Amino acid sequence: MRFPEYRPRRLRKSEAFRRMVRETSLDVSDFILPLFVIEGKGIKVPLASLPGHFQYSPEILAQEIGQVIDSGVSAVILFGVPSKKDAIGSQAFSNDGVTQQAIKRLKDICPALTIVTDVCLCEYTDHGHCGVISDETVDNDPTLDILAKVSVSHARAGADMVAPSDMMDGRVGAIREALDESGYESVPIMSYSAKYCSAFYGPFRDAAQSTPQFGDRKSYQMDPANGDEALREVELDIDEGADIVMVKPALSYLDIIWRVKSSFNRPVAAYNVSGEYAMVKAASQNGWIDGERCMFEVLTSIKRAGADIIITYHALEAAKALREIEGQRLT
Ligand code: PBG
Repeated sequence: MRFPEYRPRRLRKSEAFRRMVRETSLDVSDFILPLFVIEGKGIKVPLASLPGHFQYSPEILAQEIGQVIDSGVSAVILFGVPSKKDAIGSQAFSNDGVTQQAIKRLKDICPALTIVTDVCLCEYTDHGHCGVISDETVDNDPTLDILAKVSVSHARAGADMVAPSDMMDGRVGAIREALDESGYESVPIMSYSAKYCSAFYGPFRDAAQSTPQFGDRKSYQMDPANGDEALREVELDIDEGADIVMVKPALSYLDIIWRVKSSFNRPVAAYNVSGEYAMVKAASQNGWIDGERCMFEVLTSIKRAGADIIITYHALEAAKALREIEGQRLT
C-alpha cells in the first residue's frame, strides 16, 4: 500500500493514537543514578559542570537519599572520592574506604535501594590511571588482583552489584572468581564492556577527581573508531561471567548499543555520560534548546537503540517528569 491509500499521518493525528502506536517507552525502573561520595563529614559540594549534582560525604548522602527514593528511582551507582591516594589505590579496597562507608550507611537507612558500585582505581591512585603503573605503562595483570579485592570489599560492605570500569583484560573473570571464592556468588557483575576513550567524560573527571596525571587512557579504553572490537570485548566479558554488559558513552555509540543488543542475548546497559548531560544542561541554560524535551529524546534514543538499563545524571529529573506526565493523563 502506498500514498494516497496509505497515509502515515493518520496515526499521528492525536495524542491517543500516538501513544497507542508508540514503540519505545521510558520507565523509572530503566534508570540508575550516579552519585559521588567524598571522604569527610558535613560535605555537599555542587559540581559546576554537572548542574544539580554534588559530592556528598557519606552521612549527608544518607540524609539526602530520601529524594531518590521519593522519585521512584530504585538504583544508584556509587563513585568514591577518597582523601588519600597512593600508587596502587589502596583506599579502594579498604574496609573503611569512602565507598564502603557509603554503602553501609545507605543500606542501613534504605535496604531496598539497589546499590551498584563502580570498580576502578583512577579515583584512588595518585597518578589517576585505572590500574597500577610499571615502566610508565598501566600494568594489566597485577591490576586484576586489586580490582578483585575492591569488588569483594564492596560486596562485603553490602553492594548489590559491582561494575568494573577499568578496561583491563581479564578483569571480569578475576572478579567473578574472587566474589565466588568469598561467598558472593549471588552478586552480579555489570561490566563496562565497550568503554571508549571519550572526551565526553570531562565533567566526571572533575567530579571524581580522577584526571590522569600523565598521558591518557588510550592504551586501555577503546578507540572511538571501532565497532567490531566492541563485540569482541562484550563476548569476552560474557565468557568471563558478566551478567550485564555496558556500552559507554551512549549517544555517539547508539550503533554499538544496537549491535550488542542484536548480537547477544544479554541485558545491555548504556551510560549516558557526564559530557552528554552537561551539553544538554548548558544549551538549555542558555535558552538554546528545550532541556526537558531534549532529555527525553536522548533517553528514548538510548532505549530505542536497545539499552535495557540507562545510567544517567537525568534520572531524578526524568523520573519526576514521567510522573507528572502520568498524573496529567489521569486527570
Ligand atoms: C572510571 C569511570 C569514568 C566514568 C565512569 N567510570 C571516567 C573515565 O574513565 O575517565 C565516566 C562517567 C561519566 O563521564 O559520566 N574509570
